[in-house]
Amino acid sequence: MVLVGVVLVAGEGTRLRPLTYTLPKPLIPVMGKPLIVRAIENLRDSGISDFHVVVGHLGFLFRQTLGDGSGLGVRVRYVEQGERLGIAHAIHRAIEEGANGELVVYLGDNYFGEGVGGFVREFREGGYDVYIVLTKHRDSTRFGNAIVSDGRVVRLIEKPREPPPNSYVVTGIYMFRDPDDVERAFKTLKPSARGEYEITELIQWFIDNNRRVGYTVTNGWWKDTGTPQDMLDLVYLMLDAVETRIEGEVRGMVNGRVIIERDAVVEGVVHGPAYVGRGSVVGKDSVIEHYVDVEANVTINGGTMSRSLILNDARLELGRARVVDSIIGPRSAVRLEKGRHTLIIGEGNLIMSTDWA
Ligand code: DAU
Repeated sequence: MVLVGVVLVAGEGTRLRPLTYTLPKPLIPVMGKPLIVRAIENLRDSGISDFHVVVGHLGFLFRQTLGDGSGLGVRVRYVEQGERLGIAHAIHRAIEEGANGELVVYLGDNYFGEGVGGFVREFREGGYDVYIVLTKHRDSTRFGNAIVSDGRVVRLIEKPREPPPNSYVVTGIYMFRDPDDVERAFKTLKPSARGEYEITELIQWFIDNNRRVGYTVTNGWWKDTGTPQDMLDLVYLMLDAVETRIEGEVRGMVNGRVIIERDAVVEGVVHGPAYVGRGSVVGKDSVIEHYVDVEANVTINGGTMSRSLILNDARLELGRARVVDSIIGPRSAVRLEKGRHTLIIGEGNLIMSTDWA
């Protein structure tokens, strides 16, 4: 049976507002590439060439970015999920619209540092009916939990009040051998207290009906990019892997591991790990300290920055100010004079400190 990727991106990203009012989480770029593009490339390299992308909120932006998939060497079809009725419902919609094969379901806001190729291989080689990837997480009640006993997954619980004993967090990749089984399971579900057809309950059906449930516990890093802090953590983790590549122009100074993309100009100072995207300018009075990702066509003058993500076409006039732990939306302009600032702002905003007024 052929492998089929089902990528779910119909979420509204409420905890990342205002950014997600115009830019869905999976389209946020990190080091020059939207997260969904990285995910699809990784799935493609695991042997998947046929994708169903389940869209809702701002679905047209995914169509603009991914098109028919040919730019990435895959085929992408789109499935509308009119109402956001849960992950199990989104999978059901993809099957309804023709997703047929061994399904690799991937939540578009998840990111696996080690890639997913190893998981896909284990799923296929083990001949499982369903396969899930578990991990330990300090904040486990924010997620689906799986209780493991004698090497078997015995129960799944969505966001329990207390972490159950012998449990792990369920990450956002799920594999199913037979779409007909998924449909059988889906038909038995009722909406949960939060009004969703839950993935945990869908998989519980496989346990209760004696299907072969495989799992692995990963020690690699995994991120669900729900909140601004999660998003920034992902940026730090990805910057940690930077290997120096300088294609732009350095008139000032760079230090440590940095990527300076083509047509970027550094007149000031950049301390790695850091990324400066295409066409961006770090002015001569600016200091980028570390863990800063500057996307494309950004201009920064003055100030110091650290641990931040600056999205495309932003303009920052920072004077003597210090900006930390911030996400600056695309096409926003920020003018500060002094002081220490943490800003999480969306697209096209203008932020001016009173000193400038
Ligand atoms: O990230 C892993 C967690 O994802 C699991 O541990 C949970 O068991 C699982 O329910 C899910 O929890 P969240 O509450 O964090 O899911 P969220 O609503 O954020 O949706 C995750 C992704 O699925 C997101 O990219 C949007 C997409 N989605 C979600 C729903 C509810 C859809 O495409 N359609 C939907 O109806």
